[in-house]
This record gives sequence, structure tokens and C-alpha cells, in this order.
Amino acid sequence: MQIQEIRTVACLGTGTMGHGIAFLAAKAGYDVRFFGRTKESIEKGMADIDRAIALYENSGLMPTGRADAIRQRIQPFTSVEKAVAGADMVMESVIEDLAVKQYVFAEAERHSREGAILATDTSSLSLSAIASGLKHPEYFLGIHFFTPPYLMPVVEVCPIRQTLPTVREMGAEWVRSLGNEPVVMEKEVPGMIINRIQAACLREALHMLEQGWASAGTIDRAIAMSLGRRYAVTGPLESADMGGLDILSSMLTQLAPTLSDRIDGGPLMEAAVKAGNLGMKTGKGIYDWPEETIEARRSAREQSLVAFLKADVAKKGR
Ligand SMILES: NC(=O)c1ccc[n+]([C@@H]2O[C@H](COP(=O)([O-])OP(=O)(O)OC[C@H]3O[C@@H](n4cnc5c(N)ncnc54)[C@H](O)[C@@H]3O)[C@@H](O)[C@H]2O)c1
Repeated sequence: MQIQEIRTVACLGTGTMGHGIAFLAAKAGYDVRFFGRTKESIEKGMADIDRAIALYENSGLMPTGRADAIRQRIQPFTSVEKAVAGADMVMESVIEDLAVKQYVFAEAERHSREGAILATDTSSLSLSAIASGLKHPEYFLGIHFFTPPYLMPVVEVCPIRQTLPTVREMGAEWVRSLGNEPVVMEKEVPGMIINRIQAACLREALHMLEQGWASAGTIDRAIAMSLGRRYAVTGPLESADMGGLDILSSMLTQLAPTLSDRIDGGPLMEAAVKAGNLGMKTGKGIYDWPEETIEARRSAREQSLVAFLKADVAKKGR
């Protein structure tokens, strides 16, 4: 199949990821078949798409006057079978539950067009396990977006052992056609690239907090104003080359034995979760989240992500 042959994309799931991916696909001109289990979840997904459209229009990421055409390209379905019927591609973002995803892909394989690309947006389930019941796992791969998918450009494209190289390339090409940036992996590994690095970083930050070496605010500020900025330009490996491998090698040898090697969330995280202190959404987590700070902090992050995206658009177009 050629990329031009992908016209109809079944976007399964209307939640945090599903609505964002459906918006990107419709904006790029695909006919989107938008699956949610109920009329209410589809309505909520469409309202979230409207908010994404408004954000794009108000921040100059998209000219006004395109909203109706985008909405009209999105057709709602409450049956997986009907949503995937005849689709050229299936992009799944339903609940993180292996059995549900296996069921969804069995339906997708049965009812989508022969040779359709079957992609999952899972963050942590095994891709191979999701595809284990498929007759044609060669058309299956991971296409892993970050939230919100219309402000975070990078998308991990990850094959399983059986994925055809052409399917992997097509996945990457499709991501590019949305205006996002694919990072294409060679092999499946838990967490792919970004969540592995994120987990290593979070584990060490929690360890420092537990040891009382610095406050949460100090740790976060230190990273935002140093590695956060540097990694926006040169990733950890290029940064190491630029710093000098002799220096970085000596640093690793000195520090590695002192770094956290926990294989769980650690006492602080586990106690917070047990107490129901889940962060912003419950008003308390590592920080306290009084109502008046929530919108301000969300908006500050969104505005910074918009500014990054506008800088990208200015550089290369979108
Ligand atoms: N939230 C993130 O930051 C993030 C980032 C990247 C990838 N992902 C992945 O995307 C997928 C969706 O995550 P989300 O954050 O959008 O979740 P969400 O809870 O916001 O949305 C999940 C969707 O699945 C639907 N659903 C629930 N039970 C279902 C069932 N039994 N059958 C069919 N649909 C069902 C819900 O109605 C909802 O539309 C997950 O695999 C997750 O790992 C999430």
C-alpha cells in the first residue's frame, strides 16, 4: 500500500489521546471514523476536538475557517466493527487493557480493508502481546503519541518482530502527513525510548526527594533550566559527545553506584497513591494543588508548548 491509498482512518477511543489524534487526522484531510462506546463519550470527544480547534485558531497555528470542514470529516461510531469496516488504517487509543485491545484488533483485522495498517498507541502494554492473536501481525505496529498529540510533535513508531519494513515506513509517513515527527525504532522494547528515559529520570528525582537532598521545587527548577533546555537541542548522547566522553565516562563510573536501583515506585510515590494523593487531579500529590493554581499552571505549560510548535512551524512549515 502507498501512503496515498490511506484515506479512511478509524480512530478508536475518544479520551485524552483519541480525540487529539482524531483532530490531527481530520485536519490532515483523512476521513476519520471516530469510535466511542457511548453517544456521551463521543460527544465529550467532539467537545475536546472543538477545544483543540479553538486553541489552534486562537494561537495562530491554523487559519480560521477550517473548523467545519474538520468536523465534517469525523464520523461517529459506537460499534468497533462498523468503525473499522473498510478502513485503510486503524489507530487505536482505547483503555490500557490487554484483553480490550486484543478484542479491538481482532475486530480490526476481520473488518478493515485487507492489508490495512493496524496501530496501537499503548504506553506500556507489550505490542507483541496485543498482536498475539492476529493472523497477520505483519501489518501491526506501535504508533505512540504524547499528550496532547496536537502540541507534542514527536511520535514513536515501533515495529514488532513480524512488522513488515514497508508497514513501519508507512506508519512513519502517516505520522509525517499529520505534521508530527516520527522517531522510528528498530525493535520493540518496554516503554520505547521516551518512557524509559522518563522513568529513569523520575526514579532518580524521587530518590533525591526521599533522601532530603533537595526540595521538589528545587529539583524541578534545576532540571527545567538545565537539562530541559539542553535536551531541546542535543539529546543525551550528542550532549555526551559534546561534553567529552572521558568526562562523562568518569561521571558515570562515580555516580552509577549511588543512583537509585529501585524496581518499584519507591516509598514516597507508593504512600501518596495509597492515600489517594494522585497529583493535580486530586488537589495533592508531590505538590499541593489549590484550585486557583491548577488552571494557571496548565495554561502556562500549554502556552510554552504552543510557542515551541510555532517556532517549529516557522522553521519548517506544518
Ligand atoms: N494519557 C497519556 O498520556 C497517554 C500517552 C500516550 C499513550 N497513551 C495510551 O493511549 C491509550 C488511551 O489512553 P487515554 O489516556 O486516552 O485514556 P482515556 O481513559 O482518556 O480514554 C480511553 C478510551 O477508551 C474507552 N474505553 C474504555 N473502556 C473500553 C472498552 N472496554 N472498550 C472500548 N473502549 C473502551 C473510553 O471510553 C475512552 O474513550 C492507552 O493505551 C494509553 O496507554 C496515553
